[in-house]
Amino acid sequence: MADLSTSIAGVRLPNLFFNASGVWCQHEAELADLLKSESGSLITKSATFEQRQGNPEPRYKPLAGGSINSMGLPNEGFEYYLEYAKKFDYSQEKPLFISLSGLSLEDNKKMCQAFADAKLDCILEVNFSCPNVPGKPQLGYDMEAMEAALTALAPIINKPFGIKLPPYFDIAHFDAVAAIINKFDQVQFVTCVNSVGNGLAIDFETETALIKPKDGFGGLGGLMILQTALANVNAFHRRLTGGKQVIGVGGVTSGKEAFLHVLAGASAVQIGTQLKEEGPAAFGRIKKELEEIMAAKGYKSLDDFRGKVKTL
Ligand code: SIN
Repeated sequence: MADLSTSIAGVRLPNLFFNASGVWCQHEAELADLLKSESGSLITKSATFEQRQGNPEPRYKPLAGGSINSMGLPNEGFEYYLEYAKKFDYSQEKPLFISLSGLSLEDNKKMCQAFADAKLDCILEVNFSCPNVPGKPQLGYDMEAMEAALTALAPIINKPFGIKLPPYFDIAHFDAVAAIINKFDQVQFVTCVNSVGNGLAIDFETETALIKPKDGFGGLGGLMILQTALANVNAFHRRLTGGKQVIGVGGVTSGKEAFLHVLAGASAVQIGTQLKEEGPAAFGRIKKELEEIMAAKGYKSLDDFRGKVKTL
């Protein structure tokens, strides 16, 4: 039997799969579903300082080959997730990741301080890449602001943590972002990629945008972004130093895409659109498919092929 276990930031996951933040993780009932599922971990919805309703509906639509969303960070406010993290049973085998997405650096500082003060065993993933809050550009596309944020947050968090990045499309940007991240020892992983921001899906018959917020503009996810996700995973896998890891997300619908993410360099794999469409049963199916692929190729563990994509 193939071994799908992995570790992120020094913490063991029984298998590499978990949800992408935002999918099946806003409320405790959904988090309980993830605990019961065959995922290897779970992450909460990106929290803002205050509770948010998010953008007007419709704000998510499945598309041929993926999805578009402009959720706008609907969440229960960080204290809800802090309380959840306080009562979480850390003796069970799935670790807990907490996603934070403050609308300002001050909010991120306050939320990180609250989690640090609580001295919990959860792992923080700070989201620098939500494309859907009107008037709030993605921090991951502003190199100076990103470095300033990491300079402020790393000493507060004061233990290994990760950041969720937007997709980059230029080699110079991979170089610049990796150089910034490599300055921070405590950034132990990056999650690549958030949705491909600000696509526009239009219904041919009605000549109308499919989602309501932002005149129909929203983040693209699912199979249509697989190659962008793989490129970002591989670009950061090649550039990050000091044992930093990459969590791959984008385009995983089956064991095959999960295999490609690991081949590109992913140490764990998050699932977004497919989880939203199929529900938590997706984890068992995709896990089994990856085990079968590994057995067919003669790989016993993820280390056997992680990052070993061949080039021509
Ligand atoms: C959202 O709530 O708009 C999605 C979150 C994200 O893309 O980071």
